[in-house]
Amino acid sequence: MSTFPTHRPRRLRQSPAMRRLVAEHTLSASALILPVFVTERAEPQPIATMPGVRQETLDTLPAVVDAAADAGIGGIMLFGVPLTRDATGSGATEPDGILNRAIRVAARASAGRLTVQADLCLDEFTDHGHCGVLDAHGGVDNDATLARYADMALAQAEAGAEILGLSGMMDGQVAAVRAALDAAGRDDVVLLAYSAKYASAFYGPFRDAVESTLVGDRKTYQLDPANAREGVLEATIDIQEGADIVMVKPAGPYLDVLSEVAARSSVPVWAYQVSGEYAMIELAAAAGAIDRDRAIMESVLGIRRAGADAILTYWALEIAARLRSAHPTAPEAHA
Ligand code: PBG
Repeated sequence: MSTFPTHRPRRLRQSPAMRRLVAEHTLSASALILPVFVTERAEPQPIATMPGVRQETLDTLPAVVDAAADAGIGGIMLFGVPLTRDATGSGATEPDGILNRAIRVAARASAGRLTVQADLCLDEFTDHGHCGVLDAHGGVDNDATLARYADMALAQAEAGAEILGLSGMMDGQVAAVRAALDAAGRDDVVLLAYSAKYASAFYGPFRDAVESTLVGDRKTYQLDPANAREGVLEATIDIQEGADIVMVKPAGPYLDVLSEVAARSSVPVWAYQVSGEYAMIELAAAAGAIDRDRAIMESVLGIRRAGADAILTYWALEIAARLRSAHPTAPEAHA
């Protein structure tokens, strides 16, 4: 009788059907969210550093909503790209600002088939590019910004956004926005807190995507990449303030934070696979360095494995299509 090796874990890897049977994690279309950029220009615009992603227009947006609904994904996250910006980000709160118009168009096109989500932050609307309004010394004024976020939330809710993505990293932003919505009778609006949002180089292509004018950096409000505990603290505070969902962002370089937040959170935990994570795989694959399709699935599965209940990814439609078309025993079906 053979006694060596005593353990043979390869037994469970011997066939596609066996591997599928013991897969610990799966992806599903309903837990994917597609970020969508909407420009005020007349024509869709390519984004040089994000091959395959473009700025949509108010006219092309309904087709994207249809495609997303057909793919069965859980939602779209809207970002506005205005043509004019000012110190207080007025466009964010004007009912006719590009983001609020996009929300209206998407809500009408969606007709309840998916959730319409909106980025709640001032950086696309300010001429200095910061996520808030500035004080007399050029610093970001936390509490003055909260008042702007409250107004922005009301405008977005009024336009038809069902989930607001609070991505500005101001202290107290969840409580301030919740209070404003509740006072206006909008206790139905869901708050997604970008709780552990790091001051990351991986937002590089996004700055192209929204034509950001930022000079300097966001280190006085976004988290230091050196800190994991502080990310968990931010999520804890946001849950206490009333966040319905908390998020970690970027995803891939912060899987430890994601895992820790997922272990402790009493609300759903999402992750945002950001523009730089997208660009790295697309550009490395274009250079022939890696297998594009496998790298995409592996990167997203890693985020899921670390504990994300849902994932924002620029590949949401492609992944949903692949999940649907894959033969049940093909590796892609459970990748
Ligand atoms: C803020 C916001 C940013 C991203 C999402 N919301 C940029 C930033 O904080 O600098 C980045 C998303 C990405 O890189 O894909 N409005």
